[in-house]
Amino acid sequence: MQLPFPFAEDPDEISREKGRKLFAGNNSEFLKGVVAMSGLPPADRVEVCFAGRSNVGKSSLINALTGRTRLARASNTPGRTQEVNFFTLADSHYLVDLPGYGYANAPLAVVEKWQRLLKQYLQGRVNLRRAFVLVDSRHGIKDVDQEIMSLLDSAAVTFQVVMTKADKVKEKDRAKVLAQVREKLAKHPAAFPELVLTSSEKGDGIATLRAIIAGLD
Ligand code: GTP
Ligand code: MG
Repeated sequence: MQLPFPFAEDPDEISREKGRKLFAGNNSEFLKGVVAMSGLPPADRVEVCFAGRSNVGKSSLINALTGRTRLARASNTPGRTQEVNFFTLADSHYLVDLPGYGYANAPLAVVEKWQRLLKQYLQGRVNLRRAFVLVDSRHGIKDVDQEIMSLLDSAAVTFQVVMTKADKVKEKDRAKVLAQVREKLAKHPAAFPELVLTSSEKGDGIATLRAIIAGLD
């Protein structure tokens, strides 16, 4: 029997090339940081967003995908990304870097404000084709992830889990985390049935993810 939630297969040559082209050169630019739903750009392009716990590697993944080391601001300080940041990709896509959730160490009022916007955005964005929910390969799915996944279930937004920081775990330790992830995902109807294993540091999974995004229209 095939495992539920297998890793996405390597893209074929055509899809890989489509992904490579979409993300090539200086095709990606920072557009704006948004602090309220009223500030969202027009919903006139295919949009994908990157959600996940604070420090899971959302901004780093956007940098790896676009091949631009400082496009999205990444840092060791959890809570780095505090706005909903829009990046244009060619003239066809938006990439959206979201503030992390599950970060307790900021003033409560500030956290509540981001979290409200994050939830409104995830529930209310009509051109959002897929949410990538990032999960640390060392830690698996936490309760706060489940909360966001349930919200995506009820908003009927398809989400795909991207395992991050693959370079930080040994292969033998990965199996346990993967089993946990697969078990939790089985309860989420909006979960896309394939995972992607990535390392923004080493480049693993990046071409695959580019091809997946390029394949959405
Ligand atoms: P917030 O904006 O605070 O929610 O964080 P984020 O999810 O955007 O995380 P960010 O990309 O800022 O990365 C957090 C830390 O993890 C940084 O120190 C990154 O260098 C590190 N990191 C991200 N991806 C990887 C990876 O694939 N491998 C390794 N080793 N470190 C990574
Ligand atoms: Mg960030």
